[in-house]
Amino acid sequence: MTLRPWIRRARRALLAAGTTAVLAAGVLTGTATTSQAATQGPCDIYAAGGTPCVAAHSTTRALYSTYNGALYQVRRASDGATKDIGLLSAGGYANAAAQDSFCAGTSCVITVIYDQSGKGNNLTDAPAGGAAGGPDNLANAFEAPVTVGGHEAYGVYVAPGTGYRDDNTSGIATGDQPEGEYAIFDGTHFNGGCCFDYGNAETSNHDTGNGHMEAIYFGDSNYWGSGSGNGPWIMADLENGLFSGANQRLNAGDPTVNDRFLTAMVKGGPNQWAIRGGNAQSGGLSTFYNGVRPNVSGYNPMHKEGAIILGIGGDNSKGSAGTFYEGVMTSGYPSDATENAVQANITAVGYGSGSTSTGALTPGSRISLQATTTCCTTDYIRHDDADNKAVISAVNSSSPATTKADATWIVRAGLADTSCLTFESANDPGRFLRHSNFELYLSADDGSSTFAQDATFCPTAGNSGVGHSFRSVNYPTKYLRHYDYTVYLAGDGGSNAWDATAFWAQDTSWLVDQPWT
Ligand code: AHR
Ligand code: AHR
Repeated sequence: MTLRPWIRRARRALLAAGTTAVLAAGVLTGTATTSQAATQGPCDIYAAGGTPCVAAHSTTRALYSTYNGALYQVRRASDGATKDIGLLSAGGYANAAAQDSFCAGTSCVITVIYDQSGKGNNLTDAPAGGAAGGPDNLANAFEAPVTVGGHEAYGVYVAPGTGYRDDNTSGIATGDQPEGEYAIFDGTHFNGGCCFDYGNAETSNHDTGNGHMEAIYFGDSNYWGSGSGNGPWIMADLENGLFSGANQRLNAGDPTVNDRFLTAMVKGGPNQWAIRGGNAQSGGLSTFYNGVRPNVSGYNPMHKEGAIILGIGGDNSKGSAGTFYEGVMTSGYPSDATENAVQANITAVGYGSGSTSTGALTPGSRISLQATTTCCTTDYIRHDDADNKAVISAVNSSSPATTKADATWIVRAGLADTSCLTFESANDPGRFLRHSNFELYLSADDGSSTFAQDATFCPTAGNSGVGHSFRSVNYPTKYLRHYDYTVYLAGDGGSNAWDATAFWAQDTSWLVDQPWT
């Protein structure tokens, strides 16, 4: 690698100042050269700090500058075939287009998240555990679209019931050995179920007692512990407890954090541990707790077992929800400076929420859907916060901001068929339009294949000759229809009142408009 003189000078100055981290994070190299290999990954930074990664998982990018293997594997529903999804270039970003073409016209789940560290600590479908049966559900490969460094990629969307695990690891901390962990989550997708975790857990899938886990937790469960505000919080799942600090319950120093892209860190060594966090799109890390082990018996010394979990609790509790983009576990207790450098790398890479196109029926685009029946041409499909039903109501430029946002949708690849579409709420991310008993609701994914089908609609030419109609993938004679200002799934004649043939063609025909927000 040849460096221009000013970069060499800058590098020397930074080295002299002890800030190799800034260079490593790609801040300088990112602007000075297009060479991927010149930019270090998070695991290069941890290695330079003397605390190398022993597990490195990401569906979006390489975590080492030289990594050129597979990131993850998908399996498609149509024929059960699997495919490894790799990188666009060594050290670079996921080849999402390979997933798009392999899964075209069917659905795909993520079957393996490969370990980039060389330790073979791959995450696969979690087995049954003490709290819940298994194997767990696998994540829909299209449910967490993202851009990273301007490239399209997919995260791991954990609906309740979804979980990954590796009970037979190598190099992961056991007993009271020190380790560090970070993960990037979607700070807007969470719940209060147990336990959206990434990190160290039991090898038996059972709760084997206090101190047998050390995983990053994210969500708003306050059953064991909590921080300030209403949550969500980054906490440490140490088994039989989500800890926000030294106290068993409330530690006010652990704030509510809900950045769209959230960096979450937990590290632990002998009678010492810390929680840190930050916005994964900008700025540095804050330390939310740094001190001794909890003042409850069983957590000092720790009894870590060295399995790895994602999306579940140590005993396979699987009521939780969240989204994971990347994460690592290290050998050794990383310094704050090393972690700060990792955060600089993350913010330099640039996570984003995806396409900015509007008014188009293509994944990533924001749209509004306007009724075409003469009664209702100023009405749009919106969700109704009162009861989560989908309705039509008038929206215009002077409508309240909430009304406009309630009538705005993000087009997604269909959860049950990628050649069709799913509509995600613009102001309630992670919740989708789905039918149930042939009425339309805004709901979070419950992880079932029924949900995926109930939320998948195939666009067709408008049944009245105007605009578009949206055919249900699991009830292909039925279409999205408004009837008495409520949105239903309706056939042209049928047993429900909303199957009435009068106005069926008009009521099932919609204009795809520019989004209200
Ligand atoms: O520590 C919280 C949870 O308690 C663990 O994840 C689980 O194993 C147990 O139910
Ligand atoms: O909306 C029709 C069916 O009703 C859905 O497929 C199912 O979720 C519910 O039973």
